[in-house]
Amino acid sequence: MTAETHENDLAPVAAVIVLAAGGGSRMKSSKSKLLHEISGKTMLHYAVSAGAALDPEHLVVVVGKYRDQVEDHLGQMSASVTTALQEEQLGTGHAVSCGLAELGNLTGEVVVTYGDVPMLTGDTLRQLVAVHRAHSNSMTVLTAHVDEPTGYGRVLRDGDRVVGIVEHRDATDEQRRITEINSGIYVFDAETLREGLAQLGTDNAQGEQYLTDVVTFVHERGDRVGAVVTDDIWQTEGVNDRIQLARMNAEMNRRILDAHMLAGVTIIDPRSTFIDVDVDLAPDVVLMPGTILQGATTIGEGATIGPDTSLMDVEVGAGAEVVRTHGSFAIVGEGAQVGPFSYLRPGTQLGRDGKIGAFVETKNAVIGDGSKVPHLAYCGDAILDEGVNIGAGTIFANYDGVNKSPTHVGKDAFVGSNSVLVAPVDIAAGGFVAAGSAVTEDVPAGGLAIARGRQHTAEGWVTKRRPGSRAAKAAAEHDGSIHRSIEESRSQQKG
Ligand code: UD1
Ligand code: CA
Repeated sequence: MTAETHENDLAPVAAVIVLAAGGGSRMKSSKSKLLHEISGKTMLHYAVSAGAALDPEHLVVVVGKYRDQVEDHLGQMSASVTTALQEEQLGTGHAVSCGLAELGNLTGEVVVTYGDVPMLTGDTLRQLVAVHRAHSNSMTVLTAHVDEPTGYGRVLRDGDRVVGIVEHRDATDEQRRITEINSGIYVFDAETLREGLAQLGTDNAQGEQYLTDVVTFVHERGDRVGAVVTDDIWQTEGVNDRIQLARMNAEMNRRILDAHMLAGVTIIDPRSTFIDVDVDLAPDVVLMPGTILQGATTIGEGATIGPDTSLMDVEVGAGAEVVRTHGSFAIVGEGAQVGPFSYLRPGTQLGRDGKIGAFVETKNAVIGDGSKVPHLAYCGDAILDEGVNIGAGTIFANYDGVNKSPTHVGKDAFVGSNSVLVAPVDIAAGGFVAAGSAVTEDVPAGGLAIARGRQHTAEGWVTKRRPGSRAAKAAAEHDGSIHRSIEESRSQQKG
């Protein structure tokens, strides 16, 4: 959804400068404000993606506070970005000067955006550039009408021309009643911008170089400053504290959910469903309440997820069901069943129509088509071929305190309940393990391993050692027969 899908029909701009030198002290965080996430991506990621959608010749991020963190993060992103340093935060005008200084004497258009305005889209920037060109403006500003303009710069107009922007702190009472605000996002003619910046002073309430003062300069020398008024005020909103971060996250999530619902996904309770921006959902997926889908998770057609399930970087095949599960870096095959209460750790790959059931933890486990690990098990560092059945309570003992070792269970093999498979160990195709075994040696194809103490029964023990107890009385009343259901089951097994 961040990626702009349609063709860029606009000629590219010369440069996009993203202002990101401020620290964000109101976040009360050890990390830069710009690295806080909304729907699974950092604010900086959104800002850079929106700028990159203009296909600029140069994309410059102006860094200052937390410079190392910000540069590290940019390095991890795929877009080709350069940085410019603003040592001291002397104002938005000064910040743009620092960005321009990296670019030499370029001509064409320069777009300025903020690193902390995550909802701004490439589409909106494209529209701003298109209007800038259509009206032959020297500068075009993105504005919005808001109910609560306090704190923002106000747009001073003469018809469709912008004649100035006055900061809240410098504004008269009359100017403060203006509800059209400056978003801080602009397109400039590069030459005009350079000249405008060169004459900026600091004679204002904050003693800063205001980028907004370039408006007055451009207007007064007779060039056109235009505006695009957006009716999506979220796209102009910055994030300064964690309350705004939560609000922005809720709105972003709402938009992501709406897009999925319009594309054919059923979301039972949008209020308790959270989907990261890069998650991919096929039509007829059903998301039950309490579902959280993160990272690069993909869900195939008709699959049902939840309730109460969180999946990070998990691929779920068509028609699968994943109930009350926590999973990361795992693959669930088509038609497979997972949960309730399953824990899929990285490297889990469940085959088509397979099953990982209640209270089962898996890690680095490739479980073949139709294979089942249905109850109360730990399955780690294992390869299970197809058609395998793992009994309740089975533990793959993959760790001896020093090394991790693998286990292989061949096609259609059967492991009885409460067994321990002590790795490295190989149970070949069609091999059987008796319930309660501690398997330390390989089991050949079609063999049966019984690795447990033989049952010893002390007849009459209760009568002798617990005389007069309820158990002793019950034993005395017993007629010696075996329970019918067990008798039947045995005779069925024999027949
Ligand atoms: C600015 C605008 C205001 C507009 C508002 C919209 C000016 C003078 N005012 O005000 O008209 O309504 O944005 O949000 O431009 N930054 C730097 N270096 C600096 C100063 C700022 O990189 O020296 C960056 C910040 O990190 C931030 C952005 O520029 O991303 C805006 O800075 P901020 O101080 O929030 O601007 P405002 O005073 O809110
Ligand atoms: Ca400021």
